Amino acid sequence: MSEQIDTALGWASGRFEACSESPRLDAELLLAHCLEKPRSFLYTWPQQALSEDCWRQFQDLVKRRLQPTPVAYLLGTREFFSLEYATTPAALVPRPETELLVELALEQIPGDAPLRICDLGTGTGVIAITLKKQRPLAIVCATDVDSGCLALARENAARHQAEVDFIESDWYQKLPAGARFDLIVSNPPYVAAEHPFLAQGDLPAEPALALTPGSSGLEALEVIISRAPDFLNPGGILILEHGYDQQAPVARLLQEQGFDQIRCEFDHNDLPRTSIGHLSQPR
Ligand SMILES: C[S@@+](CC[C@H](N)C(=O)[O-])C[C@H]1O[C@@H](n2cnc3c(N)ncnc32)[C@H](O)[C@@H]1O
Repeated sequence: MSEQIDTALGWASGRFEACSESPRLDAELLLAHCLEKPRSFLYTWPQQALSEDCWRQFQDLVKRRLQPTPVAYLLGTREFFSLEYATTPAALVPRPETELLVELALEQIPGDAPLRICDLGTGTGVIAITLKKQRPLAIVCATDVDSGCLALARENAARHQAEVDFIESDWYQKLPAGARFDLIVSNPPYVAAEHPFLAQGDLPAEPALALTPGSSGLEALEVIISRAPDFLNPGGILILEHGYDQQAPVARLLQEQGFDQIRCEFDHNDLPRTSIGHLSQPR
């Protein structure tokens, strides 16, 4: 007898307990993908039998999920700020926490001014593209040192018809001479190289370049903050995502570079994850 939707889901979620914080959701997303149906279909027709092909395809995805491969890489997409983005192992899977950084940025960008914005370390492009979609008058550029990320970010920008200038660059290095921005945003790599967290969950499947900048975890934040005064306009703003235990060093680095009105926002887990500073006098 062939497998039914409900039994297939029960089987897969049981296996995912070991590798996922959301075993049932992962199973539903993968099965809906195999069936080419929305997730609601699984609830409407729990006893529908799966075709041989569909069951085989599902078993294969379950096996790959257990390696572990992130669901976003298996599906090839991930939603961010209500838009769907192409995701591949070239780039970090966009995280819901990063929506906090985007919300903070949007609070700083009036809808009626052509502000200049730069997103450093753009990955899939989600931050830059969301800001451009939400504030069409803004002039947005984004950098990444990895050409695979930039190809993906360009694909995502085209998918969402967002005009963003993507530049292959080691942080600020290849920005056009004299470039100045009203807002710089970044979700850089910030996990210390030997941190046990890197071995947990799906992280081993994601690019190390996106996760860790070096032994302290602060290396990328230090470069981004220390050079920001050379690239901000007077009154410019820097917004950074960082680790939950990096609030104090980030505030210190911002202070050392002359930023004021420094504050840190907490994420949905009540952890201090996104810092913001204003710069009245750039260099
Ligand atoms: C944590 S990921 C963030 C990706 C994306 N902005 C997001 O929020 O989903 C950090 C990104 O920084 C990029 N990166 C790492 N080192 C870099 C460097 N020296 N210059 C520019 N980008 C870099 C990585 O390739 C990666 O895409």
